[in-house]
Amino acid sequence: MSKQFDVVVIGAGPGGYIAAIRAAQLGFSVACIDEWANEKGGPAPGGTCTNVGCIPSKALLQSSEHFEHAGHAFKEHGIDVAGLSLNLPQMLKRKNTVVKQNNDGILFLFKKNKVTFFHGRGAFAGAATGEGYPIEISGPTAETIVGKQIIVATGSNARALPGAPFDEKLILSNTGALAIDAVPAKLGVIGAGVIGLEMGSVWRRLGAEVTVLEGLPTFLGAVDEQIAKEAFKMFTKQGLGIHLGVKIDSVTTGENNVTVKYTDAKGAAQEGTFDKLIVSIGRTPNTNGLNADKAGLKLDERGFIAVDGDCKTNLPNVWAIGDVVRGPMLAHKAEEEGVAVAERIAGQHGHTNFDTIPWVIYTSPEIAWVGRTEQQLKADGVAYKAGTFPFLANGRARALGDTSGMVKFLADATTDEILGVHIIGPMASELISEAVVAMEFKASAEDIARICHAHPSLSEATKEAALAIDKRTLNF
Ligand code: FAD
Ligand code: NAI
Repeated sequence: MSKQFDVVVIGAGPGGYIAAIRAAQLGFSVACIDEWANEKGGPAPGGTCTNVGCIPSKALLQSSEHFEHAGHAFKEHGIDVAGLSLNLPQMLKRKNTVVKQNNDGILFLFKKNKVTFFHGRGAFAGAATGEGYPIEISGPTAETIVGKQIIVATGSNARALPGAPFDEKLILSNTGALAIDAVPAKLGVIGAGVIGLEMGSVWRRLGAEVTVLEGLPTFLGAVDEQIAKEAFKMFTKQGLGIHLGVKIDSVTTGENNVTVKYTDAKGAAQEGTFDKLIVSIGRTPNTNGLNADKAGLKLDERGFIAVDGDCKTNLPNVWAIGDVVRGPMLAHKAEEEGVAVAERIAGQHGHTNFDTIPWVIYTSPEIAWVGRTEQQLKADGVAYKAGTFPFLANGRARALGDTSGMVKFLADATTDEILGVHIIGPMASELISEAVVAMEFKASAEDIARICHAHPSLSEATKEAALAIDKRTLNF
């Protein structure tokens, strides 16, 4: 007889493994199936995020930033580094170790929480019977299990340019971009989105000449315009060659290089030849091999699993979360949906607040934001007040030797409720949490302005930006 579970989760990325753990905490018998394999063929749970996304990219961003600082910034601190050289194999090895620590950590958490893990591909084996949905597992584990409730968390894949499939040698997705074994002299990047900027920064810091080709005429359209303009200036100054409004005409591979023909924003034909080309033009939902049609699971017109606001699919007791459904493709969004769905299955009122999901781009300086941008408030006809404070006037930033950027507050003109907070600067990824908490509690800018912040700390810039709403900055 097939093993029976209250909850079967397909996919152990941040959405799936967190949903599985939360469901187990709530007293359900839980199975989680994931097909990701490490180089030895063993299980590597954690999904895109752990294996070829958030974690390895942040490991390389950190290492490459150390390298850059050792080359330039340390001197100003009175630290002379003689004979600086790059040991790329060690840098990549460290990144792989960090990934493995996370894979092992998830396997440990499954054991601790009594989640039964199956290494293999899970697919619907048919419609629900009285006992639940039969799920067929193939690969290292081959068996059919049954789940009363199914949570689909199968994530996303990199989108290729038409006519230029990823070979991970010359044309790289995020997977290849995180494993280049020698710094390319010339690196091309198509798409100036989050991956293009993060991975472009890594390889530029390590010595590559990086050219980024972006289709849209505006830089980082989802980011507050003032912040995006500042970022464009800084990235260009660092040496990223960013070309906006281009149209890619063709990509052809030679033996050791890739040639991209494109039309620039002025309509002129251009050509670039690169040692490697990263294509980072967005991601597509992954429903490969899930047999969604066998069970009658509905997809939307863009290939995402169709869900309502509660992550319910068209099938009773089948839920879907994370990158495979609508909404931002972010690990923490997937996690929040995982927790909320597990709690809904338990009859609780799980909730994901889409209005307070923070975004971070881990470049240097980092860019982080929550809530609405100034251009969105204008488009929505909302009367607002804005306040900014530059890190240049923050004592801790000066001591760090990193005074780039600012904190920007946007608050309702009448009620003073915080509508958006936008940060470009050191540790923006950490600073944004204060704004998220404030917005969750519907705080006003005045609330933040009146809260005691430690001195000297970067967070004082947050308080000062809130004070700037009423033109009362104390240090600028
Ligand atoms: P995934 O993490 O994609 O996990 C899905 C899992 O399901 C995979 O392990 C897959 O193998 C498995 N699977 C799929 N189909 C089946 C099947 N039929 N049977 C069994 N297993 C299956 N987000 C952030 O918030 N912060 C970041 O810093 C960040 N950095 C990123 C950097 C890069 C380079 C990339 C590519 C992405 C980054 N993201 C980041 C996005 C983040 O990785 C995703 O939003 C997140 O991984 C989505 O989680 P998920 O659980 O929905 O799916
Ligand atoms: P993206 O959506 O961030 O950026 C893609 C960029 O490519 C856009 O600017 C788009 O205009 C451009 N583009 C699309 N088609 C093009 C074409 N044919 N020619 C030229 N430009 C084109 O997607 P990206 O960078 O691939 O990342 C995917 C997702 O992964 C992100 O949206 C984000 O959700 C997630 N991610 C999150 C990170 C974080 O939170 N720090 C880091 C990396 C990825």
